[in-house]
Amino acid sequence: MQKYEEIVTLARRLALNQNLASVRHKTGAPQTRPFQSTEITTSVVQFENVGVRYGTGPEVLSDITFELPDGSFHFVTGPSGAGKSSLLKLMYLALRPSRGLIKLFDRNAAEIEREELPGLRRQIGVVFQNFRLIDHLSTFDNVALPLRVAGAQEGLIQKHVGELLGWVGLADHLEARPPTLSGGQQQRVAIARAVIGRPRLLLADEPTGNVDDQIAVRLLYLFEELNRMGTTVVIATHNEFLVREFAHPQLHLEDGRLDTRPPAKQA
Ligand SMILES: Nc1ncnc2c1ncn2[C@@H]1O[C@H](COP(=O)(O)OP(=O)(O)OP(=O)(O)O)[C@@H](O)[C@H]1O
Ligand SMILES: [Mg+2]
Repeated sequence: MQKYEEIVTLARRLALNQNLASVRHKTGAPQTRPFQSTEITTSVVQFENVGVRYGTGPEVLSDITFELPDGSFHFVTGPSGAGKSSLLKLMYLALRPSRGLIKLFDRNAAEIEREELPGLRRQIGVVFQNFRLIDHLSTFDNVALPLRVAGAQEGLIQKHVGELLGWVGLADHLEARPPTLSGGQQQRVAIARAVIGRPRLLLADEPTGNVDDQIAVRLLYLFEELNRMGTTVVIATHNEFLVREFAHPQLHLEDGRLDTRPPAKQA
């Protein structure tokens, strides 16, 4: 644990010096946004008495009710099999609830047409537990994809993708294809791809599961920076140290039930 404390101190210092300022300028968004300020009124995600079962099996999530205010940052915690990935899939509308109400960006998910899904999902950055990178594209092109889809200028793409991949420690692997990268490297490509477009909502499933402590802390700083720029962030994690050290509330799942917990530590 001692090692972790040192890393946090170091990373904090680093984050102060190199706070991804230029990525922030990309879309001309406000420089800062107060974290969980009182001006926040709208909710990005809302669940009311949601239940989920796979096939004819028992409910794996029951009576799930919560709300994610715009600009909030939450961890999703709980033991393996508790339903963390299922909860994220519900928010991404990749899984339909068996009962209850889900609202995404103030829209009732049950009323969203299939054709509308791609447009809605473009506002969500997602890091899947199994990465889902495009194997025949280079690291650089995987990360550039959301910007290219959005029609960004190639000059800006070169600058921002290069900078972000440097931040996550992949500057030497820009041309590598995902199958030639390690698990932890692939995970960082997936994270860079999820955050590069400054999504409205970021859903990350175990985003630090394959990297060492130092990189995990660095990635958390990246998520916090994104959050300061306005993105609502949800991170499923087993890493108790990160949950303790980074002061964000938890959506804690156990036996299919949700227990909302305040930050483990005060900011
Ligand atoms: N496609 C599926 N078909 C049937 N059951 C499933 C499916 N996906 C998940 N489950 C079940 O739902 C429950 C919750 O799974 P989920 O993957 O959401 O848990 P988790 O908290 O993400 O676990 P982990 O920490 O291991 O990633 C588990 O009991 C799992 O077996
Ligand atoms: Mg999971």
